Amino acid sequence: MSRHLLDIETLPPGVAEALVQRAVALSGGASPERCEGEVALLFWEPSTRTRVSFELAARRVGLHPVVIDPSRSSSVKGESVEDTVATLAAMGIQALVVRHADAGTAARIAALPTTESVSVVNAGDGVNAHPSQALLDAATLIADGVDPAKLSILFFGDLRHSRVARSAASLYRRLGIRELRVAGPPEMMPDADDPIFRDAVRFRDLDEALAGVDAVNALRIQRERIVDLAISDGAEYHERWGLTLERAKRLPDHVRILHPGPVNRGIEIDARVIDDPRSLILRQVRMGVFLRMAVFEWLLGCRQPVPEA
Ligand code: CP
Repeated sequence: MSRHLLDIETLPPGVAEALVQRAVALSGGASPERCEGEVALLFWEPSTRTRVSFELAARRVGLHPVVIDPSRSSSVKGESVEDTVATLAAMGIQALVVRHADAGTAARIAALPTTESVSVVNAGDGVNAHPSQALLDAATLIADGVDPAKLSILFFGDLRHSRVARSAASLYRRLGIRELRVAGPPEMMPDADDPIFRDAVRFRDLDEALAGVDAVNALRIQRERIVDLAISDGAEYHERWGLTLERAKRLPDHVRILHPGPVNRGIEIDARVIDDPRSLILRQVRMGVFLRMAVFEWLLGCRQPVPEA
């Protein structure tokens, strides 16, 4: 049976932890394993970080990536997702990395009889999950010396439409972090009975939420997923719910600043805070390649490299 990375919840016990540790090791210079075969990258939604890092990761473990632009594929002639992936599977690809606006698309693909021998990776499906982002964020913190058992982390902004925050909430629970906090405008907070956020401490005021945390994770307003956006004034939003320069100055030196990207400068985070020494944003991007290498190694059960004579 093929392995899949669809969300954090369905990963077998220990795998999320192992993927994080493996990414940290790879980022520290461990040798990648050698994989064989082809992986198709199918992004029906735009992406820079996730698409490019999966492509680089595939190359670095010896896979051949095939990047398909759906806007130039037979999708535009009306071909269904099911028929597109069945076509790729029939050509013998070993793995499919999929991003789609509809929640559940990756899981639906993984359950198809036509993709039985293909490993499916969810690279973001609607508001549902973005597991590799959560894993790489945790790996970035751990590589920077953070002990999950002592970590209090705040996610703030548009939680309701954030697949990153959902995957992170599941992952951090598995990693046994000390505290998960969430804060945002009422219309952007998760539902009170959302089981993913059952352990989260909720705040109605960003300054209160920031007091005493070890890490902050800013979230972009997911305009592409919001039907009736009430926010018209970015400056007002920034003042109330953004990591302003003043708020960043009040944070202690040990506090790590994260953002999954892409960043809307001056909305959820001040442009100057992105370059703050406490900001891990570009380190998250770098870790993305190592984490996705670890994902391919695990998915495809790749061999250890042959020792050089
Ligand atoms: N974080 C993230 O998913 O970024 P991209 O949309 O650029 O892939």
